[in-house]
Amino acid sequence: MNELYLQALKKWSDDVKKTIQMEDLPEETINTWGNWDEEIQASLENGVEQEQLIKLHQQGEELQRHLSDSSKELIRADYANHVLPPLPYAYDALEPYISEEIMRLHHLVHHQAYVNGLNKAEEEIYYRNHEPDMLRHWLREQAFNGSGHLLHSVFWKNMTPYSSKVPSKQIEQWINRDFGSFAHFKEGFTNVAKSVQGPGWAALLYDPVNHRLVIESIEKHQQNHLVSMIPLLVLDMWEHAYYLQYKTEKADYVEAWWNIVDWEDVNNRLLRAMNIRD
Ligand SMILES: [Fe+2]
Repeated sequence: MNELYLQALKKWSDDVKKTIQMEDLPEETINTWGNWDEEIQASLENGVEQEQLIKLHQQGEELQRHLSDSSKELIRADYANHVLPPLPYAYDALEPYISEEIMRLHHLVHHQAYVNGLNKAEEEIYYRNHEPDMLRHWLREQAFNGSGHLLHSVFWKNMTPYSSKVPSKQIEQWINRDFGSFAHFKEGFTNVAKSVQGPGWAALLYDPVNHRLVIESIEKHQQNHLVSMIPLLVLDMWEHAYYLQYKTEKADYVEAWWNIVDWEDVNNRLLRAMNIRD
């Protein structure tokens, strides 16, 4: 299982390497990425423990953030080239709370479909000319698939096999300040998740206008524009996210999910979001 995951990381690293070669980046930055790439190669040859695998993934994320900061002025925004991000853990890592079968289908089939749909929509919107009727269709496709891609990308990172089960640091303080207590927030978020009719999400968001936390459901995301709220913690309530394992027991799925929330990730998202003020 870890080997499959390492191969996905290696592919990610190779893709980034191709981009790096086309840019004029400082040698030190290129070398740092090279060292990380070598570490993956070594892990592929010698094997690696799950915990070390997660660390490797986190290092890759950090490096990529650093790379995109260094290259901000060098490359223009590009469209229609989104790729499926690898999961930050193996497909069976969240068991027994979420089964390997669900994770595999959810990531490889459903999320991939959003990525493909977004690339297609962007190609039509940014690289072709359309009459208003057709343009409206592709804009809806962009909203639907773009929101799906973003929400799933956050959702994967919001989970971990090593959950602390309760929030800490700033996110704990903010939850206590805005909702009174973690128990009160958990109850509110759970109720929102259970209230979702059909496909949709429950979400904890950062509101940069009022500088506070907000809980909401995101239904019919092709009609919702995530304009000013920044997702910190999201829970996929589409049937594909739980049905194979939990059938119609939506509440059991939500209850199990609380055991795998990555509060460290939620806290880091809050710290980054707090810099954005209207
Ligand atoms: Fe999903």
